[in-house]
Amino acid sequence: MSLLQRVVLVDAALVFLAVALLVVSPATVSRSTTTAEVAILLLGATALLTLTTVMTRRALAPLRLLAELMGRADPASGTHAPVPGAGPGTAREVADLAAAFDAMLTRLEDERRRATRLAIDAQEAERARLARELHDEVAQLLTAMTLQLQGAERLDGPALEARVTALREAAHGGSDAVREIMRGLRPEALEDFGLRAALVALASGVTERTGVPVRRALAAQLPPLTPEVELVVYRVAQEALANVVRHADAATVDLVLAVDPGRLVLEVRDDGRGVGDAPAGSGRQGMRERALLVGGRLAVGRGPQGVGTTVRLEVPR
Ligand SMILES: Nc1ncnc2c1ncn2[C@@H]1O[C@H](COP(=O)(O)OP(=O)(O)OP(=O)(O)O)[C@@H](O)[C@H]1O
Ligand SMILES: [Mg+2]
Repeated sequence: MSLLQRVVLVDAALVFLAVALLVVSPATVSRSTTTAEVAILLLGATALLTLTTVMTRRALAPLRLLAELMGRADPASGTHAPVPGAGPGTAREVADLAAAFDAMLTRLEDERRRATRLAIDAQEAERARLARELHDEVAQLLTAMTLQLQGAERLDGPALEARVTALREAAHGGSDAVREIMRGLRPEALEDFGLRAALVALASGVTERTGVPVRRALAAQLPPLTPEVELVVYRVAQEALANVVRHADAATVDLVLAVDPGRLVLEVRDDGRGVGDAPAGSGRQGMRERALLVGGRLAVGRGPQGVGTTVRLEVPR
């Protein structure tokens, strides 16, 4: 039975009860109403009102229970107990509400599990990448240096000089490699010189390493931004540029940072093959989640005139 039907039923029962009481009881209302009659009518009305309140409250009780449960629900707890209120005898609206709330809790829990798994996967992937870089760039160099050092004490003259020069060069190479790895881990320029300078360094780093020209159009004056927003904009630009290099086969890339009224807009546009319907991996997912973290929006789609790919990040300010 629906909630409306229940309430109407309660009201109807009470109206009929009042009529029946008037019929069977000696109570009357004369043309010139007496004080005693008014008192009896008032008493009857009060009794009816009290009854209506009690019965309507009983009909609405499951709603109050559900509201309490909603207030207490914690999607972080992983799994929830079944939501009561969907049993037999419950009003249809309440049962529907309970079922919808149950489904919403399940969705929230699933989404939370998925986000946690993504975060952990991303962390593991980052560690694996770091280990690989340390192995390829640093550990191998150190092994080579150790080999070169073996027996060096027995050398003299030009042979010793040549060995020392080779070792010095290897050590230089090692510290360059470590610096490069550190740059990838923490955008130093961001902390030291701000977002604009960090994006300039990022763009020229990409061109230097890969030969893909990055044209920059960065607003000269940026409004004051929180470190959180700066980091999100930087990381999105970094991942979007990395994707261009890895997947786009582009001739040129545009890196645009514009200040619109009320928002900051970053665009990375390439003229490559386009994302098509390639599913998002952890890179694109990560960009989206970073954007959400600062109340922003991320869109990845075709570029102007349907050419290449454009990644657009909008952050309110
Ligand atoms: N600029 C681009 N041009 C063409 N295809 C792209 C571009 N950016 C992304 N893609 C496509 O979208 C897919 C998903 O990108 P995403 O960054 O999520 O993952 P990934 O780069 O493959 O791996 P990672 O998680 O290490 O970033 C890519 O595999 C690629 O097919
Ligand atoms: Mg990627």
